This record gives sequence, C-alpha cells and structure tokens, in this order.
Amino acid sequence: MFPTKTILFIAVVSLLITFSFAAVDTFIYGGCSQAKYFPGSPYESNVNSILTSFVNSASLYTYNNFTLDGISGDSSVYGLYQCRGDLSSASGDCARCVARAVSRLGSLCVGAYGGALQLEGCFVKYDNSTFLGVEDKTVVVRRCGPPVGYNSDELTRRDAVVGYLTASSGGSYRVGVSGEVQGVAQCAGDLSVSECQDCLMESIGRLKSDCGGAAWGDVYLAKCYARYSARGSYSRANGYGGNRKSNDDEIQKTLAIIVGLIAGVTLLVVFLSFMAKSCERGKGGK
Ligand SMILES: *[C@@H]1O[C@H](CO)[C@@H](O)[C@H](O)[C@H]1NC(C)=O
Ligand SMILES: *[C@@H]1O[C@H](CO)[C@@H](O)[C@H](O)[C@H]1NC(C)=O
Repeated sequence: MFPTKTILFIAVVSLLITFSFAAVDTFIYGGCSQAKYFPGSPYESNVNSILTSFVNSASLYTYNNFTLDGISGDSSVYGLYQCRGDLSSASGDCARCVARAVSRLGSLCVGAYGGALQLEGCFVKYDNSTFLGVEDKTVVVRRCGPPVGYNSDELTRRDAVVGYLTASSGGSYRVGVSGEVQGVAQCAGDLSVSECQDCLMESIGRLKSDCGGAAWGDVYLAKCYARYSARGSYSRANGYGGNRKSNDDEIQKTLAIIVGLIAGVTLLVVFLSFMAKSCERGKGGK
C-alpha cells in the first residue's frame, strides 16, 4: 500500500521545500593551512590588509589578485577573490558575497598561513606562497544527487547542458539551460583562456563519470568548478560522495537529523492510517 518509495519521495520533497533557497552566501567549502603564524606578526597585518582589499575591490571588479610583499621577505601574502559571473560589482552583490566570505574565512582560519573559502556566489583565497596564475586541478568537493533513473528525459537534458558548458568559446563563466536542467561553470580569473578550458574539461569529465545518472552534481576543483541541477532541486542536502573540509559537517548532521525526523513522522502517519484502516475493517465484521 505505501511502498518505501512513497515515503522516500515525501521525505525528499520536504527537504527540497525546506532547503531550496540556495542563497549566494550558502557555504560550499572552506579549508586552512595547518601552520599558524604568531599573533601580532607582520604576516598577520598583511593577511588582514589583503582580506580588506578583497572587500574594497569587489565593489569595482568581480575578480582581482593581490600581492603584499613582506618587509622581511617571509611575510609576503598572496590572494585572490572571484565572484560568480552573474554577480555584478555595480549592484554590490559581488562585494556583499566577498565580505561574507572574508568574514567566514576569518573565523574559520584564525592564525592560519593560508586559507580558502567558497560560497555559492564567490571564492576567496590567500596564502604565503604564490598560487596566482597557477593551474590547480585538485578535487576539493565532489558530490552527486540521488539517481534519476534510466528512462529519464532529464539525462538527455543534462547531457545537453553539460555540452554547453564544455564549449571552448565559453569564457570563464558559463551557463547552460535545457528544460528544467541548468548548469553553471566558473574559473578563477587568474587562469588563462586555455588553462580555464583545461580545468573545466577536468571538472566536467568528473561530473559525467562520477555523477552519471544523478539529479544534480557539483565538482569543485581548486581553480574552477562545474555543476548542474534540475530547477527547484537546488538542495544539495541529500548528496553523497562529498569531501568537504570544514564545519559543514555540523550542517550535515543537522540535515541527517531532519531527514530522520521527516522519515520518522512519515512512517508514523503511514502506520497510524494503516491501523485506522485495520480497525475499520475489524469493526465491519471481517
Ligand atoms: C609558508 O609558511 C610555512 C609555515 O610557516 C613555511 O613552512 C613555508 O616555507 C612558507 N612558504 C613560503 C613560500 O614562505
Ligand atoms: C594580477 O593583477 C594585476 C593587476 O591588478 C594583473 O596585471 C595581473 O595580470 C594579475 N595576475 C593574475 C595572475 O591574474
């Protein structure tokens, strides 16, 4: 009568309703170097001023890079920020996202020599060795949604969308839409056109191979990312295959609890209605 599928479906729908407001400042990942600098060191003041520069610059440009040379040579700091291509500087959207990212990075990476943080709408990174202009295809986050099944049109649309993203004429920000399926790809602004293409091909290749028949997928490499999803299912809540480095685990735990609760309540309702029906049948004499 109530197959497990229905219950799962109800649970998933509830999740989508709860978590479909993927905002620009939704946290994707963050990570910090193990090594720490001494509080009050010249390095610390360089880190602070580079992070301040990000926020100031983001009201003018959607990408910028900075190098602060240390007096003593070992206090040099390098950094960049990148807003997603659809966030404009003029509207203040880019600066708002960068300010949020910088503030989260500041509390996540207290005293760390290097740190990087990706929100839905922007990326910020600083380090004591220069990574500017260096292609880096390290996989940082890879996560896929639940399978959509084999006969689905959605798979065809996904292939079309992913195809748009691979077009080499695409630039550093790319979007693709086919029906309900949408895709987005973004490179960090320090990559050349060919490095960006190379990075995205790697990211998209993994998206195809790892998230084969999934409803959505995200592959974040160190300098670029590609993702796709069906409209309305922007929730990444029930994904698997994640590889996140930070306090997002707390969110995962909370989600697990919520999923458990929803499933529990659904089961209870199903059980009660089953009991009610049995009772009625009992009363009816057979
Ligand atoms: C960056 O800081 C770490 C930790 O102190 C140090 O081992 C490394 O040599 C530094 N790198 C550069 C390029 O100064
Ligand atoms: C860094 O920024 C400067 C100007 O602000 C620019 O000339 C340079 O090409 C940038 N470097 C990279 C690697 O993006």
